[in-house]
Amino acid sequence: MATRLKPRLPDSRILSIAPLPACPPRHCNPLPDRVSLYPKGITLQHKVPAGLDRKEAEIYRQFDLERLPGHIAIIMDGNGRWAKRRHMPRVAGHRAGVAAVRSTVETAARVGIGALTLYAFSEENWKKRPKSEVDFLMGLLSRYLKAEVPTLNENNIRLEYIGRQQQLPDDVQERMEWARASTARNTGTVLTLALNYSARSELVDAFRSMVNAAAQNGGIEHLQIDEEMVAEHLYTRHLPDPDLVVRTSGEMRLSNFLLWQLAYAEIYVTPTLWPDFRGVHLLEAIAEYQKRERRYGGLNHGDGLNHGDAHSHNESAKAHK
Ligand code: FPP
Repeated sequence: MATRLKPRLPDSRILSIAPLPACPPRHCNPLPDRVSLYPKGITLQHKVPAGLDRKEAEIYRQFDLERLPGHIAIIMDGNGRWAKRRHMPRVAGHRAGVAAVRSTVETAARVGIGALTLYAFSEENWKKRPKSEVDFLMGLLSRYLKAEVPTLNENNIRLEYIGRQQQLPDDVQERMEWARASTARNTGTVLTLALNYSARSELVDAFRSMVNAAAQNGGIEHLQIDEEMVAEHLYTRHLPDPDLVVRTSGEMRLSNFLLWQLAYAEIYVTPTLWPDFRGVHLLEAIAEYQKRERRYGGLNHGDGLNHGDAHSHNESAKAHK
């Protein structure tokens, strides 16, 4: 009989995400709650997490906390244009982008987003950009990791990476591993940085990994591939699929980012250039996400569904999730 082959992963790579409570106790401030009136006349009271500024708090109070996206992926774009508009070199845009990363990550953690994945550096960036820009980005990443680990720990954020890390400079890999290990015990938001990442390469690596695993477990004639198995061999095996993908700078492309995992994600594009992006913009994206009806290939509620069909629609949505 054919056997179901599991990937052979080092234990540290087999990770699961414990869902965060929407407002972890130590993040809740004692300010009096504001009352939000919802369409059906339901009155909800949200404790606003500590650390949100006034605008963020205003948006947060309108959230349906039952429907926060569990995983948000962001394509950070527009650093070059931001710098060009200011007659500055491109790298100034990347440097300014670090403040956007910091604000976005902290806000995501404060509001209880389970996972945040940032597309920091594609395989194509690595191959096609001038060496000086690539070197600058590597230095920026190293400095970011060194400076940010204490804040990641304060905010209970665990750091992970996806991409072909083995092709990055040795000193950068060492810094990455140090930062990952330094945050490994955190149980809150999982921050995954996509570095030297390409979705197509990820799929190639997953297919190779499946064949290798099969060869070591009785031969490839026993290999039975299904969606679950592919997902288990992707770099993102520590994550659920993103519910929401955000792209800055107005471009309407996925640019080889998480092509498998974004199958049912809601897409949000903002004209804001990445260096101008802040936590408040992330909360605006979440507010827009909460207005969407996710259909997973089915129909809208009320569009030709009788009661029994609606049930099977919901079951099917869960199955695709
Ligand atoms: C895209 O803008 C952005 C990048 C290729 C790099 C992203 C890097 C950062 C935001 C800073 C460092 C990140 C971390 C995690 C510390 P672009 O240069 O393609 O912009 P353009 O399309 O306007 O030219």
